Amino acid sequence: MPAVIVVHGGAWAIPNNLAQDSVNGVKAAAREGMSVLKRGGNAVDAVEGAVRTLENNCVFNAGHGAALNTRGEVELDAIIMDGRTLASGAVSCVKNIANPVSLARAVMEKTVHVMLTGQGANMFAESIGMNTVPTEMLVTQNERKEWEKHKNYVTGVMEDFNSQWAHDTVGAVAVDSAGNVACATSTGGIRNKMVGRVGDSPIIGCGGYADNSSGAVSCTGHGESILKVTLARLILSHIEQGKSVAEASRVSLKYMGDRVQGAGGAISVSPSGQWAATFTTERMAWAAVHNYTLWYGLDPDENLKEPFTY
Ligand code: GLY
Repeated sequence: MPAVIVVHGGAWAIPNNLAQDSVNGVKAAAREGMSVLKRGGNAVDAVEGAVRTLENNCVFNAGHGAALNTRGEVELDAIIMDGRTLASGAVSCVKNIANPVSLARAVMEKTVHVMLTGQGANMFAESIGMNTVPTEMLVTQNERKEWEKHKNYVTGVMEDFNSQWAHDTVGAVAVDSAGNVACATSTGGIRNKMVGRVGDSPIIGCGGYADNSSGAVSCTGHGESILKVTLARLILSHIEQGKSVAEASRVSLKYMGDRVQGAGGAISVSPSGQWAATFTTERMAWAAVHNYTLWYGLDPDENLKEPFTY
């Protein structure tokens, strides 16, 4: 069966001056994810490769370009999950790591645990020889300037994610030619978050979930809202009940809006290769490669495409 990769660069009111770079960034990440699959990588390799590309791109709030907490520091969260076995790995509140998704993968593959946090996660990174970087390398001038402007934590969910200063999270889901699914999500969280605050992204079933029996999901949006409705698992439970991937994503995001007044987005894929990119914020940059076509969009109902060649 044809492999599929879908990526997102975060659901929020992306301002026009970041729009083109955001679209270019997600297209590049989707291309990278599909190249990994074409080189013989599996779904886990593909989502890790795609998310690393997004973490390395300063336009997005993950890795380089991460949002800063109230102390003006970087604290990064990430998850990865393998739909074959439900193996998953996550890190939260890590510093000095440029690609937290790869650290999450190491937690999955090299420890008996599912999640490591803060100092412990950084100690583990050191123990496996993972490169560290000075925090300042991860901080963009733009993020430092915006952080200075908005030092008060914003609590209004819709105001937050529809404002043009909040930005959010990257992620990828994939199904490989063997029908195995995987997801990965990575974020700097919310600007001016409290020190130690952990959102949805590294929490299994919230920021992401992957199960070969139903599909894979990566979420973005207001972390506290996503946590309350366990958004990734909610979408998959609607798929299990017979809804299409697109409908399951739509009803789950609507439920989150109705129940806890939270906005966000999700990318989803089923083991048979159905996929969707859905959001309730003003914008979400997303891209997908399926059947030699690169699909992408930013605004609601935007569904552009161009040929994809390997
Ligand atoms: N959705 C990312 C966060 O709230 O941290």
